[in-house]
Amino acid sequence: MQAVILVGGEGTRLRPLTSGTPKPIVTFVDRPFMGFMLQWLASHGVDDVIMSCGFLATKVKAVLGDGSDYGVRLRFVEEPEPRGTAGALKYAEDLLEDRFLMLNGDVLTDVDVTAQLAQHERTGATGTLGLVPVTDPTQYGLVLTKEDGEVTGFLEKPGRDKLEGIPEYLISAGIYVLERSVLDRIEPDRNVSIETVVWPQLVGDGLFGYAARGRYWLDIGTPDRYLEGTADILLGNVETAVSDRLDARGRALAPDTVAPGAIVVGAVIAEEGVRIEAGARIVGPTVLGRGVHVGAGAVVERSVVLDGSRIAGGAFVADAILSPGVRIGERTVVQGQAVLGEGVVVGADCKLDHGIKVFPGTTLPDGAVRF
Ligand code: GDD
Ligand code: MG
Repeated sequence: MQAVILVGGEGTRLRPLTSGTPKPIVTFVDRPFMGFMLQWLASHGVDDVIMSCGFLATKVKAVLGDGSDYGVRLRFVEEPEPRGTAGALKYAEDLLEDRFLMLNGDVLTDVDVTAQLAQHERTGATGTLGLVPVTDPTQYGLVLTKEDGEVTGFLEKPGRDKLEGIPEYLISAGIYVLERSVLDRIEPDRNVSIETVVWPQLVGDGLFGYAARGRYWLDIGTPDRYLEGTADILLGNVETAVSDRLDARGRALAPDTVAPGAIVVGAVIAEEGVRIEAGARIVGPTVLGRGVHVGAGAVVERSVVLDGSRIAGGAFVADAILSPGVRIGERTVVQGQAVLGEGVVVGADCKLDHGIKVFPGTTLPDGAVRF
């Protein structure tokens, strides 16, 4: 089975994690995010994947290689300029088979694509959209269907005024089964959106929805959802290969990472070379990447601290994301979904809160910021 994955967006909402690293290869728990999608697809028989790239494509290629680490053959297509979600598909036309999957490149999920393919086959659809229920559909593509799954309406990012009278909000999960004939509806060499141009055109003409209720699904494209997805992987709320690494408490602590007198609570991953000093406290779900150092008496709760970062004694880090190579000074507080870019240095006695984003390479002297 073939799949096209769209990864051409700039990932602006995940900055500064995506300032120098494209979203598909931002580290998620212990691997590039795309690793989760490729392993999930491979488990449903996908063996041929085409990555439709734009932004920083060379880096994506360098990290994901030929896909063999993830059980698929991986090829890359680079648009000359952003073509939009349908334009990007059209640009890959020469490589596509008669039927293929198409995916948004930022979904963490264990949706049963095998069942979605079976429904597509059964209904003879031109396109079958995977659908998941949400409470607030305004940031997604809202899909209206009949009992039998036929789509009667597609509203991309609907305003609240459009929601009245709809009993359940099923949104497009960014997981599509398509027949090659869909390509005939897309004008070549232009920027075309599949959500606003192609789906509305296909309504009443072979577009179906497959409701994937009861499965895990998350668009990881914002800092709060990045943390939510990380927690769900550690807690086993979504089926992923990471679960194989974790013990019954959701833990994987490399040898000699926890000093006597340090406390570890809940689901925590501490990779090779981590050092948690005496009196420090780590509360899960938390990930400490390779070589991370947590000083004496420091606290890290529900956070992601990536490779090589150092948290000094007495510092407090909660609900935060620290990119690789960050340094946090003594007694500094980092909380409230603060996101620190690669190599950021924060001196002693600062406070970073309220979703603050600090861009890569920034240095904040002692006591300089209380936000
Ligand atoms: N190659 C390429 N070229 N890829 C693109 C382009 C482009 O011009 N524009 C966006 N993409 C990729 C992004 O990298 C992402 O993986 C995917 O297309 C969707 O773009 P997002 O920017 O993440 O869209 P969204 O999250 O606001 O909305 C989409 O996803 C929702 C589910 O998460 C829509 O498809 C909604 O209908 C859907 O509900
Ligand atoms: Mg998205």
